[in-house]
Amino acid sequence: MPMPRNKTEDDITAEVVQRFAQTPQPRLREIMLSLIRHLHEFVKEVNLTEAEWFQAIETLTEAGHMNSDKRQEFILFSDTLGVSMVVDLLNHRKPDGATESTVFGPFHRQNAPELPWGGNIAHLDHKGAPTLVSGRVLDLDGRPVAGALLDVWQAQTSGLYDSQDPALHEMHMRGKFHSDAEGRYLLRTVLPVHYPIPSDGPVGAMLRATGGHPWRPAHIHFVVSAAGYEPVTTHIFDRTDQYLGSDAVFAVKESLICDFTRHQTVDGEARRLGIAAPYFTTEFDFRLKPASEGGPDMLDAQRRLAALGAG
Ligand code: BEZ
Ligand code: FE
Repeated sequence: MPMPRNKTEDDITAEVVQRFAQTPQPRLREIMLSLIRHLHEFVKEVNLTEAEWFQAIETLTEAGHMNSDKRQEFILFSDTLGVSMVVDLLNHRKPDGATESTVFGPFHRQNAPELPWGGNIAHLDHKGAPTLVSGRVLDLDGRPVAGALLDVWQAQTSGLYDSQDPALHEMHMRGKFHSDAEGRYLLRTVLPVHYPIPSDGPVGAMLRATGGHPWRPAHIHFVVSAAGYEPVTTHIFDRTDQYLGSDAVFAVKESLICDFTRHQTVDGEARRLGIAAPYFTTEFDFRLKPASEGGPDMLDAQRRLAALGAG
């Protein structure tokens, strides 16, 4: 009588795949089977030890415990591993000329205040250099999009978002603006600074252990939306920033890099708004692609994030 063959790791993979192949819903079946195959392959490729497996469980447990209405450690993992940007690229393919999207990040908040033309999102930030951001919202043929909504948010000069700042009990560095009849917008803020993503949890430990850093280059966040167009979630970046080539979350795209110009004399809109020199200006035009039937619903993603407690 031949000896029965010992079970191998490939037998387990085959057994698991076979079981999950019964998943009734086709898309869930596709995702589960691919996840299982890749996960098993990964564990076999690196020959994962039991200690390493346990460390992974501890890391995920710690990440779960860190999550709150102010912190989303799982999104930070997704961002710092580049997964968020891959998902973004797969879901928001843009024709040439349309404004490219980038990572949403965990610091958006619902219900930012509606601000008028030239409104200041940084009224409590007295350290940063006054900065005017202006431009147009256009369609792909260069025609103005009137009445577009620009939802803007930015870190303070301290490097903290309002929700991270224990001294703040109100919204700050956030606002909603509308483009005018020519598609123009104008907002006042302070010069954006580079800042570290939260690094006191397992994501920070991962970055340190792998020789990385938590810094994001200076940027301002936008979600620009208008009826009939696909909303774009994006940032504009400061061309002079030292972290442009090593963003902790891989979100920089060449087309989103802007020149922030320093001015010593006050004129035009700066004078009308009572801004003192020195101050900075930058210009950026948003080009929206038409909405597609059944296309991605970014605004729904925002609502879901808010419901998670990170909004
Ligand atoms: C942000 O830019 O706000 C951000 C994006 C990803 C991770 C952390 C912060
Ligand atoms: Fe940010």
